Amino acid sequence: MPVMKHLIAPSVLSADFGNLQRDIEMINLSEADWFHVDIMDGTFVPNISFGFPVMEVLKAHATKPLDVHLMIVKPELYIDRFAEAGAAVITVHYEACIHLHRVVQNIHAAGCKACVALNPHTPVLLLKDILIDLDMVLVMSVNPGFGGQKFIPNTLSKVKELKALAALINPSLRIEVDGGVGLNNIGELVNAGADVFVAGNAIFAAPSPIEMISLLKNHDAGILTRS
Ligand code: DX5
Ligand code: ZN
Repeated sequence: MPVMKHLIAPSVLSADFGNLQRDIEMINLSEADWFHVDIMDGTFVPNISFGFPVMEVLKAHATKPLDVHLMIVKPELYIDRFAEAGAAVITVHYEACIHLHRVVQNIHAAGCKACVALNPHTPVLLLKDILIDLDMVLVMSVNPGFGGQKFIPNTLSKVKELKALAALINPSLRIEVDGGVGLNNIGELVNAGADVFVAGNAIFAAPSPIEMISLLKNHDAGILTRS
């Protein structure tokens, strides 16, 4: 059976917004799999990013699926609009949803894949009763709100715990890691069971972003984590 390769989702948050179309074309041409789109409302997180006008630009120019990460309160109010704006995957935060099951149903009804994100302090086990309904879980490896932060090492054991839980409940669940991901930690995260990687700073601060995407995509966990 062929081994499924992990996916790379460059974070548009770290792009040059003065040259957004150029950076979108770079991702189109690269070995990246998805576009990661961070929506921040200044309330759920202490930062404001961008909204529908940028989604429209992405919808018009991106040739790969849009992975939309909603860091907003009351995400249920905007599911349909993000679906119409081209989202393929919609991620809502566990911490932002009182009726999480209903929100997940709404995401599926809108024709999108449903993902739930966990802040660094939120235990994996809290997702036990919703795991069967999810396509993906996003494990935050920094406190959400900003690109370019330092990876929180405890993420590794959270990914392992989630992988074990998913093996029992929903083996096809994808596990995405977001925040401080780079060549220094992607290998051990793959080994821990993660299969989708968001990277902002690691890609856009690299001398050649397209080459960095290739390095992250073709990282051989087995070779590079062997001591
Ligand atoms: C943080 C965002 C991330 C961020 C990742 O709140 O959810 O997607 O853009 O950026 P890096 O890879 O720079 O940590
Ligand atoms: Zn994100």
